[in-house]
Amino acid sequence: MAAIVVHGGAGRWDAADRTLAVAGVARAAAVAWGVLAAGGSALDAVVEAVVSLEDDPLFNAGTGSVLNSRGEVEMDASVMAGDTLAAGGVACIERVRNPVLVARRVLQATDCVLLAGSAASAFAREQGFADYDPGLPRAVRAGQRGGTVGAVALDDAWRLAAATSTGGREGKRPGRVGDSPIPGAGNYAAAHAAVSATGWGEQVLRYVTAKDVADRIARGAAPEEALREALDDMARRFGEPIGAIALDARGRLGVVHGTAAMPHGWRRSGEPGVTARFAAVKIPA
Ligand code: GLY
Repeated sequence: MAAIVVHGGAGRWDAADRTLAVAGVARAAAVAWGVLAAGGSALDAVVEAVVSLEDDPLFNAGTGSVLNSRGEVEMDASVMAGDTLAAGGVACIERVRNPVLVARRVLQATDCVLLAGSAASAFAREQGFADYDPGLPRAVRAGQRGGTVGAVALDDAWRLAAATSTGGREGKRPGRVGDSPIPGAGNYAAAHAAVSATGWGEQVLRYVTAKDVADRIARGAAPEEALREALDDMARRFGEPIGAIALDARGRLGVVHGTAAMPHGWRRSGEPGVTARFAAVKIPA
């Protein structure tokens, strides 16, 4: 059994962006499915899905990242492998094309879980990642609406993984770190579940959303039910909706958002191709 689910963020999506956003998540899911179909790991698959979304200027990650209050791009990303609980992340990293690849390198090549700021950028250079200006031309940025991106996957060896990447909140204070690089907050994978969240990072950090959803799944909830319970409770407490995706070790998936849209795509063993949508409808387990 293999499965991939990706999201393009529960940000301020315009209906005008629907076609491009759906195409972007479909492409990312297809790339990741190619990895799984070739026998690649769940971790390889989520990283490749997120690279595809980071390279698409429509989404708020990598090249499409929003600007902070100083007009700079500071990005957060993380990866986690469910079978080992190995995790790697970067926070406030600048001048790299794919923060998720640097996050994976943190997992593989260091004894750290998270590197931040100039030290994260220095680590990227040390590891051979080229200097890259992710700033979009202003004319392109004016129409930019996207949100944080993420992916969860299950491979044929029953391993789960999650990856999440973002430019954070537009106009954020320099040095601000959101939920995406923090294991258990915006991104989490364990043996039984993998979760990636999108939305107001401070709320996700306070609720420890991804771990909360995974724990609900461990207690017996289906991914969709676990997401709905957690996201409803968050909306009651904080008053602003978020979105998230989840996958369990049986290949059951959930896509839930309280926002008007959250482009997402998925494919599972036995399905003829990728299904991609601008907003969620109930997905058969
Ligand atoms: N969820 C992304 C952020 O708030 O940084």
